[in-house]
Amino acid sequence: MGGAYDIEPVTPADYRRRAERRLPRFLFDYIDGGANDEITLAANVADFRRIVLRQRVMRDVSQIDTATTIAGEEIAMPLVLAPIGMGGMMAQRGERQAVRAANGANVPFTLSTVAICDLAEVRAAASKPFWFQLYMMRDRGVVKELLDRAAAAGCTTLAFTVDLAITGMRHRDLRNGALSQSVAAKAVRAWEIARHPAWTLDVALRGKPHGFGNLADRVPDPTRLEAFTAWVAKEFDASVTWKDIEWLRAQWKGKLFIKGVLEADDARAAASVGADGLIVSNHGGRQLDSVASTVSKLPDVAAAVGERLEVLVDGGVRSGVDVMKALALGARGVMIGRPWIWALAAGGEAGVARLLATMKQELRVAMALTGVTKIGEIDRGLIDRAPGA
Ligand SMILES: Cc1cc2nc3c(=O)[nH]c(=O)nc-3n(C[C@H](O)[C@H](O)[C@H](O)COP(=O)(O)O)c2cc1C
Repeated sequence: MGGAYDIEPVTPADYRRRAERRLPRFLFDYIDGGANDEITLAANVADFRRIVLRQRVMRDVSQIDTATTIAGEEIAMPLVLAPIGMGGMMAQRGERQAVRAANGANVPFTLSTVAICDLAEVRAAASKPFWFQLYMMRDRGVVKELLDRAAAAGCTTLAFTVDLAITGMRHRDLRNGALSQSVAAKAVRAWEIARHPAWTLDVALRGKPHGFGNLADRVPDPTRLEAFTAWVAKEFDASVTWKDIEWLRAQWKGKLFIKGVLEADDARAAASVGADGLIVSNHGGRQLDSVASTVSKLPDVAAAVGERLEVLVDGGVRSGVDVMKALALGARGVMIGRPWIWALAAGGEAGVARLLATMKQELRVAMALTGVTKIGEIDRGLIDRAPGA
């Protein structure tokens, strides 16, 4: 564990501490928190930590290659930056900085529907194609237009999120009065902003505009984030079923990944509507609290559809060692959410770049010490014990 006198942040936990110091409380809690009692959030992390690896020795591990392909792209390691809403509130034009870091590390970046920077801005900053994440809106015209813009921005892969039929109970946000316009809530927000001058200068003043870029022309008052958030909550479509994914499949020519599947039956349904991949995810413990950790569900899903679909997993991945554990349990790759947004808040593009370099080196070391030299050699045999998995 790191501490106050560290010269450099190394782990996601180190970036998290720095993010906590830098951000107004309500923003830190928004990225850090989970649903209800945060039982699932904790389980995601704890279950990765309980997996025990096998140390193997005396194999030639002088050449380690972490490169792989996901969604047809050749990438430097099996890791994708997960979609994070409001990333541009954590650092100046945050999504722009994050896509550059991802491009530099040669891993995919996923732009959220509710990002601050829009598709065109991220496209202009990027040197490689990126992924787009979609929430289904009631107005299919809006959806169609978003898809057209994503295609025009050169997005290769669409991650369609299915675990947010309704927004989870994020108690920290509620306690912080995130959507409240009361005098008390406004006063506390103003105090939190005043207390964090570095953030205020970098993001609040120099990082404008702060609306949801991809939806800016749809929302009545794009200067007020609470109005925006309320609009989005109203417009998200809770009536979506697999039938709508057939519609989506017909609209989207690129790769389609379904994000937010935990059960093998749902994974089979995703395969049957023509998805190319899925992400085993519980939204980072932000939706249904007390649902199982993602890594404990991964083996079942991989067994059910791993031959037909590319299976990714997210939730609780905090190191390159965790990436290897996920692959050993059947994933083709992982997504990381909080680790990159903490690093972005703490150190901008350079922070995300350093985090990715560290995770890649951790993966290389873990491969060498388990006796494998290529991503394709990572299999269940590397696991000594996987509690519950
Ligand atoms: C602050 C925050 C915002 C998020 N916003 C989105 C989003 O807009 N769309 C989405 O599909 N998932 C969103 N997620 C979920 C992440 O994409 C991902 O599934 C999750 O963070 C993975 O867990 P981890 O944070 O433990 O890595 C968000 C997660 C966080 C922490």
